[in-house]
Amino acid sequence: MATVTDASKVTSDLNDLIQLDYDAIAAYEAAIERLDNAAYKQQLTEFLGDHRRHIEELSQAVRNAGGDPETKGDAKKMLTKGKVVLADLAGDKAILSAMKSNEEQTNSEYEKAVKKGYEASIQTILERGLADERRHKAWIEQTLDRL
Ligand SMILES: [Fe+2]
Ligand SMILES: [Fe+2]
Repeated sequence: MATVTDASKVTSDLNDLIQLDYDAIAAYEAAIERLDNAAYKQQLTEFLGDHRRHIEELSQAVRNAGGDPETKGDAKKMLTKGKVVLADLAGDKAILSAMKSNEEQTNSEYEKAVKKGYEASIQTILERGLADERRHKAWIEQTLDRL
């Protein structure tokens, strides 16, 4: 059952996720630039693409609700290991550890959103997004285990 149906609440909730995804993209860009391992760079580039798709889908949902989608992140409030932190890191292990923290945050925010419950079309976007975020986190954890 959808519990969040008020259009302005839908807009503000989804805009929070959109900002989180913009910040995640900025962190991914910084991470990809600094990683040494080419296979890691390639995998993170794919994950970055998932975040872009999340933004597109969530932005469309905001417009459908009559709202204006956010067009940028909010580095101050979203990720603890954002692009500024990433820019100071060296070494694949340190970089992936920071990205693990970021993906823990994306997982928890998407989980909270899925639990709140929205209309079916939004819920589908959120559940698919959560599945992506879980996959991102799992890959980073497995890769760190081998480092
Ligand atoms: Fe996302
Ligand atoms: Fe992610």
